[in-house]
Amino acid sequence: MEAKVVVLGPQHKASKKNFKCGNDILDKYLALFALQDQQKKLSVCFVLESLTGEIIGYYTLSASSIDAKNTNDQRFMPFKTNYRTLPIILIGRFAIEENYKKLGFGKKLLTDALKRCTLQATQIGACAVLVEPKDVNAREFYLKFGFKILPDQNKLFMTMQQLSQIFIGFH
Ligand SMILES: CC(C)(COP(=O)(O)OP(=O)(O)OC[C@H]1O[C@@H](n2cnc3c(N)ncnc32)[C@H](O)[C@@H]1OP(=O)(O)O)[C@@H](O)C(=O)NCCC(=O)NCCS
Repeated sequence: MEAKVVVLGPQHKASKKNFKCGNDILDKYLALFALQDQQKKLSVCFVLESLTGEIIGYYTLSASSIDAKNTNDQRFMPFKTNYRTLPIILIGRFAIEENYKKLGFGKKLLTDALKRCTLQATQIGACAVLVEPKDVNAREFYLKFGFKILPDQNKLFMTMQQLSQIFIGFH
C-alpha cells in the first residue's frame, strides 16, 4: 500500500479526528493539540498518509535536553564533557492507527523519524534521540529497534553516533 510522510496541516482537519490508535491521549493530542503546538513551534508533527488522505500514523519531533548526570552510562555518552545538560531530539508522540497495526507501518514511520533526526543532527547539535514509551507494548516496540533504557527514567535512547552508522551516507 502506498503511503507518504508529510507535515501535519490544515488539510488533515477531518482525517485527524478519525484517528484511533488505542490510546485516547495520543488520539486527542493529534485531533486537538498537534497543529496548535506546531504553530507555537513547540513540536513538528509528521503524518503517514494514504493516497486517499487517511492518517495511518503520526509522530512529533522537538528539540530537547537531558540532565548529563543521567547519562553516565558509557553507551549514552562515550566521551567526557563538563556540560550539565545535553542536547537531544525527542520523539514526543508516536502512534499507528488501529486498522493499520502489525502491517509494518510502525517500522516504516520510526525509520522515517530516525532518518530525519540523523539529518537534523548534521545541522544542529544533538547527541541522541529519546522516546518516552506510554506503556509496556510501546517499550517493547522501541527495544526491538535497538533503543536502550536510560537509567532511572521511563525513557529510551539511541545515540546519534549509532544512528549515523545505521544511516551511513544519508544526508
Ligand atoms: C507500538 C506501535 C507503534 C507498533 O506499530 P505497528 O505498526 O503495529 O508495528 P509494525 O507492524 O511496524 O512492527 C514492527 C516490528 O515491531 C514489532 N512490534 C510491534 N509491536 C510490538 C510490541 N508491542 N512488542 C514487541 N514487538 C512489537 C513487530 O513484531 C515487528 O517486528 P518484525 O520487524 O521483526 O516483524 C503501535 O502498536 C501503536 O501505535 N500503539 C499505540 C500507541 C503507542 O503505544 N505508541 C508508542 C509511543 S508512546
